[in-house]
Amino acid sequence: MKQSELDFINTLRQSTRYIEQHRGKTCVIYLPDALIAAPDTFKQLSQDLRLLHQIGLKIVLAMGASTQIDAALTAHKIHWQLHQHFRVTTTEMIPVFQQTIGQLRSQMEAVFSQANNQNAIPLPIISGNWVTAQPKGVIEGVDFQHTGKLRKINHQAISASLGGGQIVLLTPLAYSLTGDVFNLNTLEQACEVANALQADKLMIFSSHQQLQDLPKQMNVTELELKLNASVDPKQTHFLAQIAKTKHHIKRVHLIDQNAPDALLQELFTRDGHGTLIFSDRYHQLRPANIEDVGGILEMITPLENQGVLAKRSRERLELEINNFIVIERDQDIIGCAALYPISNTLGELACLAVDPCYQGQSLGAELLQAIETNAIQAQLTQLCLLTTHTHHWFIEHGFKLDTLEALPKERQSLYNLQRQSKVLIKALTK
Ligand SMILES: CC(C)(COP(=O)(O)OP(=O)(O)OC[C@H]1O[C@@H](n2cnc3c(N)ncnc32)[C@H](O)[C@@H]1OP(=O)(O)O)[C@@H](O)C(=O)NCCC(=O)NCCS
Repeated sequence: MKQSELDFINTLRQSTRYIEQHRGKTCVIYLPDALIAAPDTFKQLSQDLRLLHQIGLKIVLAMGASTQIDAALTAHKIHWQLHQHFRVTTTEMIPVFQQTIGQLRSQMEAVFSQANNQNAIPLPIISGNWVTAQPKGVIEGVDFQHTGKLRKINHQAISASLGGGQIVLLTPLAYSLTGDVFNLNTLEQACEVANALQADKLMIFSSHQQLQDLPKQMNVTELELKLNASVDPKQTHFLAQIAKTKHHIKRVHLIDQNAPDALLQELFTRDGHGTLIFSDRYHQLRPANIEDVGGILEMITPLENQGVLAKRSRERLELEINNFIVIERDQDIIGCAALYPISNTLGELACLAVDPCYQGQSLGAELLQAIETNAIQAQLTQLCLLTTHTHHWFIEHGFKLDTLEALPKERQSLYNLQRQSKVLIKALTK
């Protein structure tokens, strides 16, 4: 078989489980104006949305239109004012907003109706007055007039449309109970609607400036820290909007609006494309079971081949699996460690390893901490280990170098002279 075919099969295997995971899940996608303004990119994206729709994802699109509205207002010689990053929307602007957004909607429907090789059925898209608005008000003496904020979301109606197989489109226009028209910030709207729907995912296409220096993943506490540390006002405003409305959304994905394939990469590959902000525990540390043997072997075999870890056969691993704990992420094993009782008071830590893609995120420290807790629960007072490459890491975590003679005779007799491992011991305190 050719390498390209093998690669294809591996990719298919890797992505198939995500298809199962995403089926029936609700996903809100924020499409900024820049993305819609690029026809080729948007056309490609519509094909990807079709694919997601076909595998059963329930999709809500929140469409931004600032660039297009700026252009239309300029063409009508209407000036606008920004305050605190938000546009002040006057009465004379409303018809321009309605016209521009109506046009964009029509363009979007046209793209979604376009047949491709596999499909001659239009991708069904629907919009409506599900979001009730209220005036943003007068802030610092500035009357925002028709700039609104979200008052209520008819999430039952949105869910019913999603349940009926429609893609739901939210535009920046919403209406108050007095029948007035308001211009809403679409990112804010996307976050609020995702919250109200308790969406499984909120995908936000973002600019380079908004994404600069963000890590691959953050929990909500790290997001707050990043927000406080950011020196770029645009990034700060962007992160603050997300931080404000994250409560019921499990995962927020920030993806690059200049990379058209980012959406699929984020959803169908283990490491995604952009930055993931998670409120659920993204990785899980748990006792290992027999099904984990394959995943553990896959991770430790390269380390065994380099001589970093002592060799273990599959049979031995299967027999000793109850001694192991693992860290699992999206059904992959990305970390493991084992505890072997040596005497009534001494335990041995072995096979501590973290997948190289995830090192440096304190997962090693988390595994060590869990092994120490298990050892203390088993009434052990000391933890020992043998290592060829990693003694400094263990010393930094409270271990001390010792001699082979410090270990019980039975353990000494199993010492592999060829490996010449260093012996380290740590006293455990409750
Ligand atoms: C040792 C290991 C488990 C640490 O996992 P981890 O999740 O990266 O650990 P942490 O995030 O808690 O610690 C990362 C820090 O340890 C340092 N570190 C990693 N390996 C080290 C080593 N061999 N010696 C000294 N420091 C090391 C990193 O440089 C990093 O330092 P920094 O925080 O200053 O940047 C991981 O590097 C690993 O799997 N190594 C190969 C297997 C191994 O050696 N196992 C131990 C044998 S029992």
